[in-house]
Amino acid sequence: MTKKYISIGLFFVLIFAAIQSKSDYNLLNIFNKRGVQVIENTTYQEECGACHFDYQPGLLPERSWKKLMTNDELLNHFGEDVSFDDSSTANKIIKYLTLNAADKSSYNRSKKISRSLPSHQSPLRITNTPYIKRKHHGISKELITQQSVGSLSNCTACHNNAHKGDYDDDSVTIPNIKAGLISIELNTQKDGYVGIVKSTNESFKIISTKISSNLSVKKLCRVVSFKGNDEFSVRTYCKIKGGFWH
Ligand code: HEC
Ligand code: HEC
Repeated sequence: MTKKYISIGLFFVLIFAAIQSKSDYNLLNIFNKRGVQVIENTTYQEECGACHFDYQPGLLPERSWKKLMTNDELLNHFGEDVSFDDSSTANKIIKYLTLNAADKSSYNRSKKISRSLPSHQSPLRITNTPYIKRKHHGISKELITQQSVGSLSNCTACHNNAHKGDYDDDSVTIPNIKAGLISIELNTQKDGYVGIVKSTNESFKIISTKISSNLSVKKLCRVVSFKGNDEFSVRTYCKIKGGFWH
């Protein structure tokens, strides 16, 4: 008798577990399709994720992907030849991209990208769509071109959950943001200077300056203390001539 109940119970536990294990994507997304759809296509991932983050198809409309996948464009893909020897691979990718493009998607972020774009425009860059441009408008050039980011195309440098199709602003960390926010002062102010970090409201003080050289690379280093509401910290920022503070 009890054995029977245990196995019935176990049966339901297993079903529940099976549903749960998929719930991160499925259940949540059925009711609330946030972000963009995650990638489920290994051909695309292998071929188009070799040099950069494999951008989800839902980040550009169908007409952009079609243009990007023409032979002419593939022969000169932002300076690289990424054309395919075998047209069946190319066709598989085109099919996957166009079926899941932003203007075909029911995910919120894709809809926003698609809606922001006039119908006669087919940008080859996600970073040239009005919605994505607007969202990054306020980020200073220094923070984007720094070594650990490079360009805005490098989504994963800042969006920690980009591979999950999640671009929410609460999962973004711009590398070296503090150094970026005080770089003008680091470049121009003397030791002893006291200022406020824009946007975080912490106060900071430049404590000292030294030249560090290991091997042939000379770096200018500055020690800075920060005082926030409940935190005090000290950091050293260094840069090579003409470079960015790290
Ligand atoms: C040989 C390396 C290489 C391969 C393989 C490659 N790409 Fe690229 N891709 C690049 C480079 C370089 C850029 C420009 C990056 C930059 O400006 O920082 C780029 C940029 C892009 C962008 C624009 C990103 C933006 O700025 O919004 C898209 C979209 C893109 N690639 C899609 C693809 C697709 C689709 C494939 C597969 C067919 C592919 N790439 C394969 C090198 C590659
Ligand atoms: C230099 C870091 C950086 C890079 C690189 C970057 N982003 Fe962002 N992105 C941000 C920041 C910071 C925000 C939040 C802006 C705000 O809300 O004011 C943001 C916002 C967004 C948003 C809107 C989020 C929201 O909650 O409204 C989307 C969508 C997005 N980024 C997509 C992308 C994609 C796609 C790429 C790559 C093609 C990319 N980002 C590259 C830093 C970056």
